[in-house]
Amino acid sequence: MVSQPILVILMGPPGAGKGTQAKRLAAELGLPHVASGDIFREHVKRGTELGRKAQPYMDRGELVPDDITIAMIIERLSRPDCERGALLDGFPRTVPQAQALDERLAEINWCISAVPYIRVSEPVLLRRLSGRRICRNCGAVYHIEFRPPARPGVCDVCGGPLYQRPDDSLETARRRLQVYFEQTAPVLAYYENQGLLVEIDGEQGIEEVYATLRDSVISMMQVPA
Ligand code: AP5
Repeated sequence: MVSQPILVILMGPPGAGKGTQAKRLAAELGLPHVASGDIFREHVKRGTELGRKAQPYMDRGELVPDDITIAMIIERLSRPDCERGALLDGFPRTVPQAQALDERLAEINWCISAVPYIRVSEPVLLRRLSGRRICRNCGAVYHIEFRPPARPGVCDVCGGPLYQRPDDSLETARRRLQVYFEQTAPVLAYYENQGLLVEIDGEQGIEEVYATLRDSVISMMQVPA
């Protein structure tokens, strides 16, 4: 019997902890972690044409246009490492992106397994975003209060220098949250109407969020379509 690919879509506002949780969950499920923001940042770093198009939107805390984003993710999902499925983080973020994904999934005969949504209140999100630090070498994510490195400014994993994402400044983080509530919140209703959305309390500690998330996703994967 050929098993169905697994497609998990992790949703939540900027700073909810999607990246923190997605890396671990993807590893446990044996799926590639497909994070639209990471792919864009990689293009910006390499100075590609896609990166040059995306950067002004990212710097302003706004969404990259749908046509660019949809083409990028559909291409990524067609690579061989996604044959068994993927964990999507940061996509879809608009209703047209969700619809385009559905059209593509219908073509390749895939179903969405679960859409966990990490809920966190706005003041906590702003605190998480402004305190986040990332390793320039290996991408490990820290927080100056909630997940501090052993030595300030130095990565525990590889010893690389930590930096602050330019879009984590308070002003840009506020804009990102506004954009989220205007353009991404309607995607939650889109998946709720399909019976796929499961809400996770994201204000627990990192380990508690992971345990709740993992259990919810695994139980959704076992529900026959
Ligand atoms: P993207 O990179 O996707 O950013 P985001 O959604 O804004 O999410 P973040 O990466 O900021 O937060 P996260 O939820 O992953 O939180 P994290 O785990 O790091 O997008 C960036 C930009 O790219 C967008 O603004 C847009 O321009 C563009 N883009 C991307 N996708 C797009 C799309 N589909 N369409 C159009 N444009 C797109 O955690 C945050 C901090 O909190 C960390 O410091 C962490 O250590 C800490 N933390 C995590 N969990 C906890 C916890 N439980 N308790 C305490 N601290 C915690």
